[in-house]
Amino acid sequence: MVLNITLIVIAYLLGSIPSAVWIGRRFYGIDVREHGSHNAGATNTLRVLGLRAALPVFGIDMLKGFVAVMLSHLTAYENGSDAMFDLKIALVAAAVIGHILPLFAGFRGGKGVATLAGAVLAVYPSAVLLCLLIFGIVFVTTHYVSLGSISAGIAFPIFVIGIFGERSVSLIVFSCVIAVLLLYTHRRNIQRLFDHSESKTYLFKKKDK
Ligand code: G3P
Repeated sequence: MVLNITLIVIAYLLGSIPSAVWIGRRFYGIDVREHGSHNAGATNTLRVLGLRAALPVFGIDMLKGFVAVMLSHLTAYENGSDAMFDLKIALVAAAVIGHILPLFAGFRGGKGVATLAGAVLAVYPSAVLLCLLIFGIVFVTTHYVSLGSISAGIAFPIFVIGIFGERSVSLIVFSCVIAVLLLYTHRRNIQRLFDHSESKTYLFKKKDK
């Protein structure tokens, strides 16, 4: 029990590493939360500082989620046991909460997409890879990162239940909670998408003609 609680606290602290804020401040003298969508994530870093800053932010945010869940292997639970699954879910939640409400950045973080993807990759890799494909298709065709994230989030329970045929109640509930969480953290993006005021994102800056 003590070990589990310690791992959950470590997962929260890992999630709290505010890569976008630290990289922006350290290398560009800019806090990305004061610009663009005010989100401390890879998308807003790309928007405000460009691809060179956004790539490490994305990598670190994904990695911290993945490592947080891999901490579960420090326990004596056997792979696939209910207790192991419950601990993994708690570690996913702790890392994502850390990213959204980071201790090291005044509790003003991001929307949790990259951290969630990294964390869930350690729980259900096949479904996450399909979701990344959905994200890529939506992003490349619309240039709305938020729409890609929302679509991937909604697709997750559909893949888990429909394609992989999962019947485990905890896994189904977990996948649905992820979809709802992404809809919640993107509520302002959804409003902007309906208003046609959501900004489009391009990996490379368009050259002026
Ligand atoms: O990963 C967050 C993304 O889906 C939206 O970010 O900055 O456009 O609100 P942003």
